[in-house]
Parts: sequence; structure tokens; C-alpha cells
Amino acid sequence: MPPSPGVSGIVADLDRLAIEAETEIGALATEQEIRAAQARYLGKKGRVSDLMKELGRLPPAERPAVGEAANRAKARIEGAVAARLASLGEVALAADLARTVDVTLPGRGRRLGTLHPLTLVRREIEQIFLGLGFEVRTGPWIETEWNNFDALNTPPDHPARDMQDTFFVEGGRILRSHTSPVQIRTMLAGPPPVRIVAPGNVFRRDDDATHTPMFPQLECLLVDKGVSFADLKGTLLHFVQRFFGPNLGVRLRPSYFPFTEPSAEVDAACYLCEGSGTQQLPGGPRPCRLCKGSGWIEIGGSGMVHPNVFRAVNARTGHDWYDPARVSGFAFGMGLSRMAMLKYGVDDLRSFYENDVRFLAQFR
Ligand code: PHE
Repeated sequence: MPPSPGVSGIVADLDRLAIEAETEIGALATEQEIRAAQARYLGKKGRVSDLMKELGRLPPAERPAVGEAANRAKARIEGAVAARLASLGEVALAADLARTVDVTLPGRGRRLGTLHPLTLVRREIEQIFLGLGFEVRTGPWIETEWNNFDALNTPPDHPARDMQDTFFVEGGRILRSHTSPVQIRTMLAGPPPVRIVAPGNVFRRDDDATHTPMFPQLECLLVDKGVSFADLKGTLLHFVQRFFGPNLGVRLRPSYFPFTEPSAEVDAACYLCEGSGTQQLPGGPRPCRLCKGSGWIEIGGSGMVHPNVFRAVNARTGHDWYDPARVSGFAFGMGLSRMAMLKYGVDDLRSFYENDVRFLAQFR
């Protein structure tokens, strides 16, 4: 019996479908597109399945021929999918292999950053005081006028409180003009003994070759029973000898700060000329260029804590922790940028703030 027209029609449709699928799949460029086409032809609701629905209506004797044609079509479509995937893989591999990599080239070094000279100096000074049993404390840059001035025995008419010298911020606060308010914060927080150093930035309305509007200071406060001026000088001497050199001396010059009495400017013997004031140069002796021939360099302010500072703290806490009749203390403050200039021989203060890598990379 010749095959019914139904059979040959389906067989021809299946063969055409296979050719169409081969052409389409052969032109696809991604695996995702190929998989989508595969589902469109071979999936449960795909076009091959659609044609196979006709199978049930054929007489049983004719079904094998259609079944065979369907398997043939499926095999061709699967083959097209596999071939296209393989050729895409080859293209990708070829592209990967075509990249030329010279494994003998020197590597690209990663440049590590360095610590800022002001950070180096701060850490070094902190270490010296940690070794003496001091703790490192910090306070906020935005302060109350009371902590920055009133509690430090600095009256409202003191010139340092002037609008010209201090940055006032909204809400009546100020940018602290020195690290001394950390003395107050520390004493408000608990009873003596107190042994702290407080590094941090301070702000003044100055801006010229030797002053920047922000600069780092380091405050030192020691309060205990029987603290004397000799303790102040001994501590400063130890610091100078550790920081600048083992045989250098310290000189205290009478001065005035509202929050210390007596007060003194602190000079360290010039480490460059070792205090002699003269530099031996090939052309003969010359006045030392660092200390300008004096033999001394100023490093900060100091003094014995003024009793009014203790009284202000006691009045605020309601405790008599800092009774000036029973405890005494010393304090000093120094500019860290000045210390860094001296230590590293930097002659322009502004170098610390310009962030020129050629300058900064020299410190490590
Ligand atoms: N706070 C002072 C200043 O900034 C320095 C200082 C600190 C002086 C502690 C005496 C005692 O100039």
C-alpha cells in the first residue's frame, strides 16, 4: 500500500523543519540564543512535537515512517546545536590564545604609601611618653568656650579669645585653639593621678610662611600629690634627650600662660650645633643656621597647673578631687609641625600640607 498523503506530508514537513533549524542555529552567536532555539524546535511545546500530534490520526502501519522521520529531524537539530556550540567554543579559545602575554616582563610593582611626617613624629613622641607611664588621650576639635578658655583661667577679655584669633562655629562653639581643653576633659572625667599626653589638631586664624590655620599640637598633663617644677624639667629633659639626642640640655625661660603658674617657655639645646651656636664650615666657624647662633631652639610652653584650673574643674564636678592644697601638676604643650621641621630639617612649614608626593615619599 502506498503511503497516504498524510504520511508523506508530515515526513516532508519534518525534513524541512530540520533544514530550517540547521540554518537558523548555524547563524546564532551565543549559547543562550542556541539553547532558546533548541527549545523552540525540540521542547515539549516545540515545533517537532507539534507535528507529531498528527501521528495519532494515522493508521498504525504508517506510524513507523513518521517516527523515523521525527527521530532524523531531532538528530539533525541536536547535531546543529552541538556543532554550533563547539564552534563558538573554538572561537573563544582562539581569541584567548591570540592574546600575547610575555611572562618574562618585570612585574608591575605596587607602590606602598608612607606615613606622613607629622604622623611619624606624633607616634614617636607618644612612644616616649607611653614609656614613662603616660596615656594617650584625645579630645574633639570643636570645643566649648568653657573648656578651651574659662576653665583654663583665661578671662573673657583675654586677647586669645578675640574673634580674630579663634574660629567660632554655629551654636556658640569654637574650633579649639590649643590642646589644653583635653586637660579639662580628663580632669572632669575622674580623680588624680592623671598622666596623659593629648595629640591633635588645633585652629587659629593665622596663615603665613610660619603659621597655618590648622596645626597639630601635643599636650602633656601630670597631676598627683607632690608634683614639682623639678618633675616638669626632668620630664622635658628626658623627652628632649630621647627625641633629639642623648646629651642635649633643656632651658626654661620665664613666661606667661593664664593656666599655669609659674610658666616657662621650653628650649632644647640645638641638636645641629649641640648647643654651641656655631657651625664648623670649611670656610671657618659660622653662626648655626638652625638656632641662628643662640644654641637653643624653642619647642613649646609649660608650667605648673594654676590652682584656678583645679578650682574650675572641682566647681563643675562637685567633687574636691583636685584640691589645690593636696595635689599639684605640670603641663606643657608643643607644636608637632615644629618638631617635625626640626627633626627632619624641613624649612617650610607648608610642605607638610601641600601633599606633594616627592616630599612625602622621603619619610618612612
Ligand atoms: N596651650 C599653650 C599654647 O597653645 C601651650 C601650653 C600648654 C602652655 C600647657 C603651658 C602649658 O600656646
